[in-house]
Amino acid sequence: MSLKLSRCARELFLKTSSIKGRQHGVHLVPHRSSSCNLKEAMAEQIKIHREKVIKFRKEHGKTKVGEATIGNIYGGMRGLPALLCETSYLDPNEGIRFRGHTIPETLCELPKPECDGGEQPYPEGLFWLLCTGCIPTKEQVEFVRDEWNCRGKLPKHIKTLLLNFPKNLHPMAQLSAALSAMNIKSQFSKKLNTVKKDKLWELMYEDCMDLLAAITSIAALIYTHSFKTPIDPKIDENLCWTENFCHNMGICEPEIIDFMRLYMILHSDHEGGNVSAHAVHLVGSALSDCYLSMSAGINGLAGPIHGLANQEVWRFIQELVKKHGKTPTDDQVKSFCQDALKTGVIPGYGHAVLRKTDPRFTAQKEFCEKHLKDDPNIKIVWQLFKIVPPLLESLGKVQNPWPNVDAHSGAILQAYCITEMNYYTVLFGVSRALGTMAWIIWARALLLPIERPKSYTTDKLIQMVGSSGTCKKK
Ligand code: MLT
Repeated sequence: MSLKLSRCARELFLKTSSIKGRQHGVHLVPHRSSSCNLKEAMAEQIKIHREKVIKFRKEHGKTKVGEATIGNIYGGMRGLPALLCETSYLDPNEGIRFRGHTIPETLCELPKPECDGGEQPYPEGLFWLLCTGCIPTKEQVEFVRDEWNCRGKLPKHIKTLLLNFPKNLHPMAQLSAALSAMNIKSQFSKKLNTVKKDKLWELMYEDCMDLLAAITSIAALIYTHSFKTPIDPKIDENLCWTENFCHNMGICEPEIIDFMRLYMILHSDHEGGNVSAHAVHLVGSALSDCYLSMSAGINGLAGPIHGLANQEVWRFIQELVKKHGKTPTDDQVKSFCQDALKTGVIPGYGHAVLRKTDPRFTAQKEFCEKHLKDDPNIKIVWQLFKIVPPLLESLGKVQNPWPNVDAHSGAILQAYCITEMNYYTVLFGVSRALGTMAWIIWARALLLPIERPKSYTTDKLIQMVGSSGTCKKK
């Protein structure tokens, strides 16, 4: 998607943002807070950013950034510039930037564990970055970790709910239901009418911190209840968010925990238009609390052409192995893919916005080159990476023949003995909560209104377009 700003709007946009020598790396909130308290740091950023938005809207509220075509209306609004999202921006060629930071920059700059040999940064730090626009210090990361650790105890009714679900209820349905049932805790919905509008974000902040603290225990209990022997989730205050999550799943190997930290960062945010982020934002715009909003996002993420695609990729690899064995030749892989394309798609390849290899795929590949390079399934992922793009390009119909994040993750989870593929999208959902919760706090801070775009019937559109093919005013 390319956002076509008029020259004048672009100049103002650049002037009001701090560019720090990057073409797209616009740091929307340049002020760096010295506070270690996330809420205080956000309050400082919100004050500055509100003023910037008010000025920008006043001067350019009527400036056009694009036009809706009939194709956009029938085409899922693909490419239509219609949404705001401050936490991340997706460039078609270089991939996602979290508050102006590319994936390699984010992985390099965020604080990392110092003693357990972990190489991947803390997701707590990413959350600080998404909320404030600044790379946190070690102390700021510790603040988030401590907050989540002390808020993380699961309400009893959530445990009872999860333990009473049939074990074969899809894990995403369990996650969605448990998140909805958490809304009994919401301060936002209880106090909504008692605080001034410009303080609403503070209630949302408290709820989002509670949700993020609890979601890992919910997800862990879904895992152990559905696939193993249930473990009552415990929070050890000396451990980080990801360690507590993994321990509650019954996983203690440092290398797997390190991969999980990477996984949690990579899947967290992908600007505002993807189904899960948009669903959270849309439901939140009606002033639903973050539990109901996140549950809506999880329902969207559970779709096979959104978050469930990682499950489809693993199924595809399994079918390939079943037909041609664990070490198929390139010709066998190619003919398998050609057969698949006769009736469908190659899961994990293509993307609505991206036009190059997803840097989230590359980050996972780099992790595997270090830790899992001899795993046969990982080798198949890389073989597909070699064979599929030229094959799709040769068809001449595909806009993006490159792999996305889902093309890699399943094989890594399998290598680490998390073999239950129905569970994979729950991990995606836990991670996606980081980005969508950061944005829902900001959405309330910016007092964004209820979303209510206009819809048309085909007959109305035909009438509006008229015989000349140009749109007449109503
Ligand atoms: C995502 O991470 O949400 C997916 O790549 C889908 C998207 O961006 O549309």
